[in-house]
Amino acid sequence: MTPDELMAAAVGVSSRAYAPYSGFRVGAAVLTSSGTVHLGCNVENASYGLSVCAERSAVFAMAAAHPLDRTVSRVAVASPDAAPCLPCGACRQVLHEFGCEEVFVQDGGSVRRHALTELLPHAFGPENLGS
Ligand code: THU
Repeated sequence: MTPDELMAAAVGVSSRAYAPYSGFRVGAAVLTSSGTVHLGCNVENASYGLSVCAERSAVFAMAAAHPLDRTVSRVAVASPDAAPCLPCGACRQVLHEFGCEEVFVQDGGSVRRHALTELLPHAFGPENLGS
């Protein structure tokens, strides 16, 4: 799966965003270490604080799909309403939990790559909970 292909999947699912309050549509495509792709879009709620971002929707779909295929290799994030659309802090933390190494965002017509360690340096993760 190339970065362009993963981004195309994120673009596709962004059209299914449920974003009646913000009008800001986002899609995310998570690629696991075994090569499976899981999709998510943002899902908002009339009780605004309950809204869930596209990235976390995709990660949670991955977690529910198979207990032995829960390592995120990379994620692509796309929005027709703003580019680049970088993951929020909460989503960076959730991506770190599952080992994500790279984040792809749109940059004009191409794909820009960020290491997750660049977006979330000195992250807190499972390894910090002691031995
Ligand atoms: N949102 C995402 O889904 N992912 C991001 O990376 C940034 C923000 C959503 C949350 C909310 O539904 C809307 O975009 C506006 O913040």
